[in-house]
Amino acid sequence: MAKYIMALDAGTTSNRCILFDKQGHIISMAQKEFTQYFPKPGWVEHDANEIWSTQLGVAVEAMQKAGASAADIAAIGITNQRETVVVWDKKTGEPVYHAIVWQCRRTSAYCDELKRQGLAGMIREKTGLMVDAYFSGTKLKWILDHVEGARTRAERGELLFGTIETWLIWKLTKGAVHVTDYSNASRTMLFDIQTLQWDPDILELLQIPASMLPLPVPSSGVCGMTDPSYLGGAIPIAGAAGDQQAALFGQTCFEAGEAKNTYGTGCFLLMNTGKKPVFSENGLVTTIAWGLDGKVNYALEGSIFVAGAAIQWLRDELKIIDSSADSEYMAQKVKDTNGCYVVPAFTGLGAPYWDQYARGTIVGLTRGVNKCHIIRATLESIACQVHDVLEAMEADSGIQLSALKVDGGASANNFLMQTQADLIDAPVNRPCCVESTAMGAAYLAGLAVRYWKDVDEVRKNWAIDQTFYPQMSMEDRKKKLSGWKKAVKYACGWAKE
Ligand code: G3P
Repeated sequence: MAKYIMALDAGTTSNRCILFDKQGHIISMAQKEFTQYFPKPGWVEHDANEIWSTQLGVAVEAMQKAGASAADIAAIGITNQRETVVVWDKKTGEPVYHAIVWQCRRTSAYCDELKRQGLAGMIREKTGLMVDAYFSGTKLKWILDHVEGARTRAERGELLFGTIETWLIWKLTKGAVHVTDYSNASRTMLFDIQTLQWDPDILELLQIPASMLPLPVPSSGVCGMTDPSYLGGAIPIAGAAGDQQAALFGQTCFEAGEAKNTYGTGCFLLMNTGKKPVFSENGLVTTIAWGLDGKVNYALEGSIFVAGAAIQWLRDELKIIDSSADSEYMAQKVKDTNGCYVVPAFTGLGAPYWDQYARGTIVGLTRGVNKCHIIRATLESIACQVHDVLEAMEADSGIQLSALKVDGGASANNFLMQTQADLIDAPVNRPCCVESTAMGAAYLAGLAVRYWKDVDEVRKNWAIDQTFYPQMSMEDRKKKLSGWKKAVKYACGWAKE
């Protein structure tokens, strides 16, 4: 019997491959960052060919590190940055334009137009999403409208659209399979989350030819085989899910009311709401968690656009830390932020504010504020944003979380996790394996090929590494959060003409 499951984790700034064994242990891992393009303020692009080549490269590397051959891999699960749009030529496989990344704000004005036309209600009812440049639909329309010849070629059936998992599956199968999983489809703003079909009215509204869309399939199930030329043999591709939904699965939040928060490039808090979609009154989106065993699970999601990216900003742009890990040490060199607040709204604000025109802001600067205060305020801003989303989620679901499960790169930061527990006034549980995203993809694929028998077997792999208990006084918490809310007001609307 094959020994491992391979997870391909195509993130926003890097691609990774992890091989897992049956107990959920990491056997080997390889990672490679790829280029970020910022052609204009607020615009973000990737080179889809670079995404493919780095993803394949890390898959080969992870296999080499483990001394594994294709026969050792029972199945591949894919998880990916969601909403990012690739359009390519069906025959040549060449993308017609850079991938437009989920963070990109270029279609904000068009989204405003849709709202002005009173279409937000209809779109929300069908897709579970608010009209925002974040989601794929308007990005796809932008490519068709702005890349020379793209619309005509798409109408002739020559072009294909996909989010990143679709693109990778198409590449891995050498063009044989053009599918998307339900969780990724639910982020496009083109997909009816109850009928599980592309919505003809929205397609017409955005003038998107149905022929370019992938076939929606469940998140767990064999959808194709890798071309043997890539990994030394044909391996079943047996699972795919957007990274946040995959993390919910990896954290074994299988029951309604279970929730997790992932600290990646952004921060995404998802709560499983069971077999029925719950529509938010408080700025959260309704999304498909996964399709598994012939059933669909839904989730409420609070999407925060910038979290780990703010720490990268401290490192790469401000250059006030040498590595992301330094932020933990530097933040604790001072006892507080000296009254300063950072609102890292670099690409607008997502949940629960949904302000496309918000921009990054630092307030409360006085002569005594130094770089450690700014570093501390940046870390605190991540925890404050999560607090706001959790508040909205508890209001929508009527469930008060007894503890928050966390994962993702920045969950390794103990200062941030302690601050998180303090601000939400609830314990924060960090599991032993914080690679929940990759793990979720592995589980979805492994369940499809019976590598794991059922979700109960999978649940046994989850264990706590550390719990952070709230320590802050009520008074301090209130003060911190009211200062934060005031700072958010300054960030809102900044980029509006
Ligand atoms: O919706 C965007 C999200 O999928 C990106 O995730 O992990 O790259 O922050 P991440």
